[in-house]
Amino acid sequence: MESCCRYCLVWVFFFLFLGYGVESSLANKVYRTAYHFQPPKNWINGPMYYNGLYHFFYQYNPNAAVWGNIHWAHSVSVDLINWAPLDLALAPTAQFDINGVFSGSATILPGDTPVILYTGADSNDQQVQNIAFPANLSDPFLRQWTKPDFNPLLVAVNDIDSAEFRDPTTAWLAEDGRWRIAIGALIENRGTALLYRSADFVHWERADSPLHSSSISSSMWECPDFFPVLLKGREGLDTSADSEEVKHVFKMSLSAENSDHYMLGKYDQAKDIFVPDDCRRWLTYDHGKFYASKSFFDSKKKRRILWAWVTECDSESDDVAKGWAGIQTVPRTIWLDSSEKQLLQWPVEEVESLRRNEIHLHDLELKPAALYEIKGVKASQADVEVDFELPSLERAQPFDPSRAVDAAKLCSQEDASVQSGIGPFGLLVLASENMEEQTAVYFRIYKDKHKFKVLMCSDQRRSSLRPEIDKQVYGVFLDMDLGKEGKISLRTLIDHSVIENFGGEGRACITARVYPEFFLNASTHLFLFNNGLDSVMVPRLKAWDMAKARLNLKDKDLGVEN
Ligand SMILES: *[C@@H]1O[C@H](CO)[C@@H](O)[C@H](O)[C@H]1NC(C)=O
Ligand SMILES: *[C@@H]1O[C@H](CO)[C@@H](O)[C@H](O)[C@H]1NC(C)=O
Repeated sequence: MESCCRYCLVWVFFFLFLGYGVESSLANKVYRTAYHFQPPKNWINGPMYYNGLYHFFYQYNPNAAVWGNIHWAHSVSVDLINWAPLDLALAPTAQFDINGVFSGSATILPGDTPVILYTGADSNDQQVQNIAFPANLSDPFLRQWTKPDFNPLLVAVNDIDSAEFRDPTTAWLAEDGRWRIAIGALIENRGTALLYRSADFVHWERADSPLHSSSISSSMWECPDFFPVLLKGREGLDTSADSEEVKHVFKMSLSAENSDHYMLGKYDQAKDIFVPDDCRRWLTYDHGKFYASKSFFDSKKKRRILWAWVTECDSESDDVAKGWAGIQTVPRTIWLDSSEKQLLQWPVEEVESLRRNEIHLHDLELKPAALYEIKGVKASQADVEVDFELPSLERAQPFDPSRAVDAAKLCSQEDASVQSGIGPFGLLVLASENMEEQTAVYFRIYKDKHKFKVLMCSDQRRSSLRPEIDKQVYGVFLDMDLGKEGKISLRTLIDHSVIENFGGEGRACITARVYPEFFLNASTHLFLFNNGLDSVMVPRLKAWDMAKARLNLKDKDLGVEN
């Protein structure tokens, strides 16, 4: 099967190249995000926190003429929101990476030395694993990296297909004092995270058993990620931490579906394998556009941060006109829900520093057929937090269990105009004045025997009149006890062509890309709506304009001693 990451690279580089010289196009201006990290291109390699700075490495072709010549670009930040671009960190200059410096990860070794492991496409176009060290540890920005001549560390042998062998994880140190990494692969048609061990970080040996593998799909597992989470509390842990007080998360990116899935379980150090709590229960980080995520431990703020790549949904020619393709989500803090059955995700607190002009609504009643415009915020660049309360759950429509499987399908069949007892209610985002274009983010409540089911939807089908846009419907059931909690919260980050939704305090996330046509010459509106038969209360709504993040800081403006 064609490797998706490489496929994406082809597109992105192509667009970039053609995009030069059209930077000022109208489409570029109206759809370009203001507070999302928008590299000239694509996905995460190895974000890390080191010595007072957040480092972000990403794939880049400086010549951008055709696909190929893949480098690692490098930006640094003190707050994960405003960034200073630095010189390229890694270039394809050696026999072991001459056809591309692909994805990888950073690890901080004892003695506070960062090191990079990455996949190179060698002179025979085989995927191999390489190492790189900072050239000058006295440089706080770690501008230059050295690739030793003893690369590659690992090549594809035996049952490993050299075209499906990539994306080493951040390493963790196990109880026997040896390092471990996982590498994505496809072995006997099973997605696999191969496990390797090393005492010195240079000589690596493959373990007999993979860290984890499954026949969930016959596509390879890209960008595997493996890390501990505390059973209680929001604090993050170093990747090597392990005890009775933690669970482990194993995540992979499924190239066939372009989605990121994880399982919760235990790391069995004796067998050196990941043991899922329930081996059939893959969870999804984000039910919309979200791929190739990576997490890292932020030792400054003691939290684990998740960051992912969001592709476009418009056409080739639109990307050409815009001059760019692909953004990053706002970085998210992740921790284990007290149910221990799922992770919770929330935008990093630093994004709140961009909030301006707060508006505040109290105790609003959304009667049946209500449409309420939220005025006073810049609706194309906003942060919205809203709680919904249901005065009664009596009229919730009965749930048909045969429809339980596919939430997105249910959302597409019962869209925001289809009335039920309770719901749909929610937000209409990036809406034109006449409502012809709008993205509905909404909830609908069902009664399932003794429990209520909360369906969360993001419907892009009316988001744009432009026919060439890919307009998906995304959906997910919120894992919550509505009877007990009594309210449903929604946080929505709106940034021109991206909408990031966090339902139920971060239990379910949906990220969408939209490209309304009216953007080209009209202003944007934001509404609350209720199309259910019963009233819905909004005890609280807060919304803010969001300032533009600075992505082009000078390194000297970061306030770090050089
Ligand atoms: C290493 O970095 C420090 C701090 O930026 C700088 O003063 C020094 O000249 C660098 N050394 C080399 C060999 O580049
Ligand atoms: C934009 O404005 C032009 C006229 O200036 C009009 O013809 C066109 O219909 C408008 N497009 C939208 C989507 O409102």
